[in-house]
Formats: sequence, structure tokens, C-alpha cells
Amino acid sequence: MMNKFYITTPIYYPSGKFHIGTAYTTILADVLARYHRQKGEDVYFLTGLDEHGQKIQIKSEEMGISPQEYVDGMASNAKELWKKLNITNNDFIRTTDKRHVDAVTKAFNILYENGDIYKGKYVGKYCVPCETFYTESQLVDGKCPECGREVKEVEEETYFFNMKKYEDRLKKFYEENPNFLVPLTKKNEIMNSFVNVGIEDLCISRTTFDWGIKVPVDPKHVVYVWLDALLNYITALGYLSEDDSLMKKYWPADIQIIGKDISRFHAIYWPIFLMALNLPLPKKLFVHDFIMMRDGKMSKSKGNVIYPDILADAYGVDAVRYTILKSLPYGQDGEFTPESFIEKYNTELCNDLGNLVNRTIAMINKYQNGVIYKSNCKTSFDDELNNYITNEIELYEKEIDNINIQNALGHILNIVSRTNKYIDETSPWVLYKEEKYEDLKSVMYNLYEAIRKISILFYPFIPTTSENIFNQLGVTNEQKNYDSLRYLPDLENNKVIEKGIPLFERLDANIEIDRLKELMKVNS
Ligand code: MSP
Repeated sequence: MMNKFYITTPIYYPSGKFHIGTAYTTILADVLARYHRQKGEDVYFLTGLDEHGQKIQIKSEEMGISPQEYVDGMASNAKELWKKLNITNNDFIRTTDKRHVDAVTKAFNILYENGDIYKGKYVGKYCVPCETFYTESQLVDGKCPECGREVKEVEEETYFFNMKKYEDRLKKFYEENPNFLVPLTKKNEIMNSFVNVGIEDLCISRTTFDWGIKVPVDPKHVVYVWLDALLNYITALGYLSEDDSLMKKYWPADIQIIGKDISRFHAIYWPIFLMALNLPLPKKLFVHDFIMMRDGKMSKSKGNVIYPDILADAYGVDAVRYTILKSLPYGQDGEFTPESFIEKYNTELCNDLGNLVNRTIAMINKYQNGVIYKSNCKTSFDDELNNYITNEIELYEKEIDNINIQNALGHILNIVSRTNKYIDETSPWVLYKEEKYEDLKSVMYNLYEAIRKISILFYPFIPTTSENIFNQLGVTNEQKNYDSLRYLPDLENNKVIEKGIPLFERLDANIEIDRLKELMKVNS
């Protein structure tokens, strides 16, 4: 039977236009979804919007429209953005969807009837942008420890969730599943700052505003936005609805991708909610770091915000996907600068990859009228090239399976460089001049084969470019399959297009760096 693969992104707050940091999580999830589909798995990929809560209510009031009108507009913007970035999500959940509201209401009732919820009073601090409760001791200089903004004093009647009841089970779960939360450094942070010091009960309702799902047992309360939001991962699959076939098929999630700022909610509260609902826990939680700008976090006031749609309009979608993904090392923050964007674009995409494809197509046309032949000869460099590629593919797979995207891309680039070197080593123009046509056939075959493999490997990251390469090469569908990296198809008589089309136009760094800086200022 086909393996299933359920992957989720966080659902985003539609409190503003999405910048490249938000896009990072979604693009990363899309890469993994595409990679697992390539491997023949039955993939279900979910993203969506977190539309309730005080932050959204305030935002819509500022704009003088109803919260529903506001989120409706933002939802169409978000869907359009993901379409533009070639995101292949199977569903788009909104927490205002009836299916979600109904299921959250039912889940609240279950938890209430189980005795996991009790009524109390909360006195403490609340950060509206992060929608998070804090105790005095958690604050840093009296401000939110996560975003550094002012917190509000709140005192309200609220329902609490009895987290403590599940503390031992959670600890045991982490002991028995040491690779659940990765990277391991992130797991250690969570264990040290929360699990090992004891977990506090959590407020799960609010009364000071009403933009949310009503608490079924006490409708002057709305469900706390994080309980509401976390449940999206199962309500989207039809949990507690009449048709829960997707739930049966896809839950538990195979990978949930989140940024480090929301790890506490996903590493502690979410597993506990699932335990309380008697559901299995996700198999893996992958936590990534942040894309930073040269002067720190992206913020409108600093004028350093980069939006992915504006970047895509100016330089193409794949340039955006590639450079954003390449900006973050595993387990660390990464930096995005206009200079690094142009450098990656010009060197890796345009020079290394683009020229390889273009040169090869030109040579196949010039020397062999565009046709690929098998040869009886081998040059002394052929085995070395092919062994190198086989080995790099293995290394690539290890890295992508560990979600080390920068390293995975590094192995594909190694193949690109090695193949460029092969052209220098074999000097096809000399073979042609010396009329060594059998050697030449072998070199063209190997080059063609290497580019075909490079294109298969690059597909999850830069799908439009890969398709473009496949078209220029004239490969069949079967020759695009991931399996054909190993079970090599016969490429004899394949024919490339008559005139290669450049994959990426070289950018003038001086002009484009200034243009990017201007785009950041104007749009912040
Ligand atoms: N609504 C919650 C998530 C609920 S999930 C049940 C939320 N939304 S968010 O819009 O604020 O953030 C969504 C994601 O974007 C998070 O994973 C966050 O880490 C990520 N990023 C926001 N800025 C980022 C960068 N600068 N770099 C990388 N990712 C960043 O939190």
C-alpha cells in the first residue's frame, strides 16, 4: 500500500501582508510535500489562517470593517499568494469555517465532560500580538519575552485547562520519543524551560472581546485563540464531523512544521490536548529558526520588510523559493540581504545551473543535431562523474529526510559543479575537432543524463525551472520520475529543443541591489 504523508504549516494570523518569513514556513512545507509526492507517497498538505482573537478584532476595528469582512479579504490575498508561489496545499483551513467552528465546539465539550477544564480567575499579563498569557516572572524588562512589545494587565474570569494532569505523560512521551521534536537543540530548550520546570495550567477562554468561537457551556466566553487554532490540524480532516474519512486516513501528521516562536504551543499544549482527546500524537515536529535582516527582525518601522509576491514579480517565483530556502541553516537563524539574494541568483541559478543547461543544449545541437546517442566508448572521466552523482544523491536524501534544506540543496549544487567540471575535463569541442565522435556521444549522453537528474532533484525547490529544463531536454514523463534516478532509463534518440532558452537572465548587481533596497522601503 502507498505510504501516506500528512504535512502541516502553522495557520497564519491574517494581521498584515505576509513577508518572506511567513512564506518560508509554507515554501519549506511545499518542498517536503513535493518531495514525498515524487517518491510516490499519498501526500496531504494543509495550510490556512488563524482568524480569531483579539489581535484580528482590533485590526478590523482600526479599519472600520467587521472582523469577518476583514478576514475574508485577507483569506483571498493569502490564497492568491500561495498560488503565485506555486504552493501545492491540498486544503486551506480557516478557523471561521463552519466545519472548524462545529468541531472545536464539540471538542471543547468533550474536554469539559472529561473534567479537564475548570473555571477560575486569571490575573496577569497578556501580549495581544502573540496572543499569549505571561506571568510577571516570564516578562523581560516588563515586556513580552517573545516580541518585546508592551503587555496588558488582564484580570478576567476564565476557564483553565488542567495541564498538570498530563505533565508526567508528556515527560514520558518525550523520553520514549527522543526524535519527536527536531532539531534536538530546540527540544532541549523546550525541555529545560518548560517541561522540566513544571507546566502551568492554561487559560483557554477569554471574556474581554467576542471575536472567537463561543464556549458551549458558557457563551459569554470565547475559546482562547490557541486552543481554537491548534485544533485546525484535525478539524481540517473532518475530526468529529459526519465524514471523518480523511482523519482516519491521514492522522497522525507525519510532520508538522513551525517556527521557533511558537514551539511551546506545539511541543507542550498541542500534545496534551491530543492526549486529552485520546488521539495519537504527530510523528514529528520540525522547528525552524528565523530569517533575519541585517538590522535584526523584519519590521515596518525599520523599513526592512521584504514581501515574497513583490520579489516574485520582479525576479520570478523560483528565484524567491530558492533564495529564501537557502537563507536558513539548520537549527540557526539566517540572513536575507539584497546582496545575498543577487549573489545566489547570479552565481548558483544563473551561472552554475543556467549555463550548464544552456551550454549542453547548444553542444548537443551543434555536434549531434540535437539527438542523444549511446556510445561504444567511454572517456576516462565518465565513471568518476557517474559515481560522484550517485554518491551525492544518497547524501542529498539523508539531508532532505532530516529536513536540512541548505545541505540538501548543497548536494544538488555539488552535482551541478561537478558536471560543469566534466565539460572542462572532456573538452567536447576538441573531441569534435578531432572527430572522436564515439567519445563525443558518450560525453553528450552523460551530460544529458546528469542534467536530467539535477532537474529531478531540484524539482521540489524550483518546480517551474525543473519543468523548463525537462521541456528543453525533451524527456518523457517516465524519465522525470524520481525512481528513474536509480533505474536508469534508456535515453537514446531523445532530442533537445533546437535553441536553448536561458533559465535565468543575469542581473546587474549594482542596479538590482539598489532596486531591492528601494522595494523594501517603499513597501514597508
Ligand atoms: N497563528 C499562529 C500559529 C497558529 S498554528 C496553530 C502564528 N501565526 S504567525 O502568522 O504569527 O506566524 C506563522 C509562522 O511564521 C510561524 O511559524 C513563525 O515562526 C513564522 N515566521 C514569522 N516570521 C518569521 C521569520 N522572520 N522567519 C521565519 N519564520 C517566521 O504564530
